[in-house]
Amino acid sequence: MFTDRVLSGMRPTGRMHLGHYHGALKNWVRLQEIYDCYYFVADWHALTTHYETPEQIADSAFEMVVDWLAAGINPDQSTVFVQSMVLEHAELSLLLGMVTPVAWLERVPTYKDQQQKLADRDLSMYGFLGYPVMMSADILIYRANMVPVGEDQVSHLELTRELARRFNHFYGREPDFEEKAQAAMKKLGSKKGKRYEELRDAFQERGDEQALDAAKALLEETQNLSLGDRERLFGYLEGARRVILVEPKPLLTETPKVPGTDGQKMSKSYGNAIFMREEPETLTKKIRTMQTDPARARRSDPGNPERCPVWSLHKIYSNADTCGWVTKGCTTAGIGCLDCKQPLIDAIVVEQAPILERAQRYLDNPALVRDILTDGCDRARKAAVETMRDVREAMGLSYDRGIG
Ligand code: TRP
Ligand code: SF4
Repeated sequence: MFTDRVLSGMRPTGRMHLGHYHGALKNWVRLQEIYDCYYFVADWHALTTHYETPEQIADSAFEMVVDWLAAGINPDQSTVFVQSMVLEHAELSLLLGMVTPVAWLERVPTYKDQQQKLADRDLSMYGFLGYPVMMSADILIYRANMVPVGEDQVSHLELTRELARRFNHFYGREPDFEEKAQAAMKKLGSKKGKRYEELRDAFQERGDEQALDAAKALLEETQNLSLGDRERLFGYLEGARRVILVEPKPLLTETPKVPGTDGQKMSKSYGNAIFMREEPETLTKKIRTMQTDPARARRSDPGNPERCPVWSLHKIYSNADTCGWVTKGCTTAGIGCLDCKQPLIDAIVVEQAPILERAQRYLDNPALVRDILTDGCDRARKAAVETMRDVREAMGLSYDRGIG
């Protein structure tokens, strides 16, 4: 049976900050209520840029996973694991590499961008160039159809889709494909089967794209098909290829921009981060010293919230009343910046109290985290092994009947 599957990963950068929380983690928590979710620590990805400093990776991974759990990722609902603990990712990455034109990788916009941005590092490495192939393997190995990512990752997902298509094109040929597809069609039932056939004909004979979409929708909503049959029927719509690897879609969710204490984008490397776990004292200090509208040099100068990063945080944390109070007080110099910041401090303290509490359990007992990851890796590996069986077979690499 087919279920919608979500997959996402993050590089192990250590403790998570409010940018990660509002930009990704809250969304991950929401998604786990609806879908079968896989969330992983992309530790090999960290090595593509930080190959000279591997020492920090394990500790950073631990801190990051603690924060995922503290944010509300529930290991009974979601599969939480570490990329390097599921070796099948490496195998699929290697095999995808066989059909990945180097020019496709050189064209990925982040390739040159990152090299320029991280000019202090030598990124002329094979691993760095190939990193979108590895990312594709991460996704395709779980046959995930939805990938929550930020704008910056959309081009990688486009490459993933192209690689899936290319792979299916090369290796999706089955000698008895036609018969198998026909048999799968029977399993749709007579009414649905007939409708499927009509739509397929409309697309193949007249190029009717709407019919293609309708047929795909029909398959989407059909629950009682095996994965193999489902793939065959998808493949059969467009030609005589089996869908071995599923094309994923990016899941772009509106998320608020979270500024750091200096007004720049929040980032640990800029030293402007407010972490998901702050003691109330450090939190208070960070907010009280946070950058405000530069035009408000004195208490008596009116300000403009639109030019103030504190306002961006109010938009996330404060209700309409408080926001109204800020706008009025700021533009008329009716309130001072410290007055303005206080409700924000209070709101973040309230938000973080349960997060701190949940995190403490794991910090006191790191073995809990280890167990969650071991269990998650086992679950992930099971799914990965299943895909790899099909991939190996399709590529002529199954030797279970011996050689020759
Ligand atoms: N490339 C992503 C990043 O740098 C992390 C990542 C690796 C990822 N593999 C993934 C994200 C698979 C989504 C799906 O943020
Ligand atoms: Fe920013 Fe508030 Fe000060 Fe206005 S009053 S400048 S919104 S901190």
